[in-house]
Amino acid sequence: MSRVAIVTGGTRGIGAAISIALKDAGYKVAASYAGNDEKANAFKAETGISVHKWDVADYQACVDGIAGIEAELGPVEVLVNNAGITRDAMFHKMTPENWKDVIDTNLTGLFNMTHPVWPGMRERGFGRVINISSINGQKGQMGQANYSASKAGDLGLTKTLAQEGAAKGITVNAICPGYIGTEMVRAVPEKVLNERIIPQIPVGRLGEPEEIARCVVFLASDDAGFITGSTISANGGQFVV
Ligand code: CAA
Repeated sequence: MSRVAIVTGGTRGIGAAISIALKDAGYKVAASYAGNDEKANAFKAETGISVHKWDVADYQACVDGIAGIEAELGPVEVLVNNAGITRDAMFHKMTPENWKDVIDTNLTGLFNMTHPVWPGMRERGFGRVINISSINGQKGQMGQANYSASKAGDLGLTKTLAQEGAAKGITVNAICPGYIGTEMVRAVPEKVLNERIIPQIPVGRLGEPEEIARCVVFLASDDAGFITGSTISANGGQFVV
């Protein structure tokens, strides 16, 4: 029987590629999204993947959203915490709102989504939680104090949950994408992207969303049962851990 997977932020960018790759691998996929109805409806029409609107920064919305998906598709066995935002600014220009929005979505969002599915995974003795962190959580990044802190926090959460889940058949891993050719990266000023960032990528190009999606499919599979608490760096050699 095919497993149920939720992908947060699963209708655009890296998340859309993950939703599609999991569907192609035989999962029943539900993609959540926060606000862009137009993109979400187009994604649903194109792929047949169900889309569900809620804000991962809102705990009760996550509880309710997950309950709705479970009623429709069955218990969630694979959770991909992909939803993330940027509010880039040099630290001296960063506002408390810039800080809070990013931490609430990128870090607290992982708590809000994982906490409601965790008891069921423990009871059933199986679960896969895959957290999409970032190269910038590993190395830091000018202009991203909020984002880098949130993504580094995701790695700490991953390592702790891996230890807590192991005896119950739950694996928890992180992927740290480098600069992938999505809207989020294209929003970086062109001069900074071309002159400061791409020259730092030894493979000489941005990554493709599908290159991250393939890592997710592997981590979700039974073949990856001995891998937990790990971080896959997929960054074209930009940062070697
Ligand atoms: N590396 C080195 N120098 C950088 C830099 C970088 N990544 N980013 C900016 N600088 C430099 C600029 O070139 C500039 O230097 P000069 O004055 O010598 O030209 C100086 O820092 C100030 O930069 P700005 O003029 O751009 O300052 P600003 O206040 O207008 O904007 C900023 C600051 C919003 C941080 C903007 O520079 C920016 O967006 N930088 C990119 C930040 C980034 O890498 N974000 C990643 C987004 S993608 C993502 O997050 C996905 C993921 O997981 C990888």
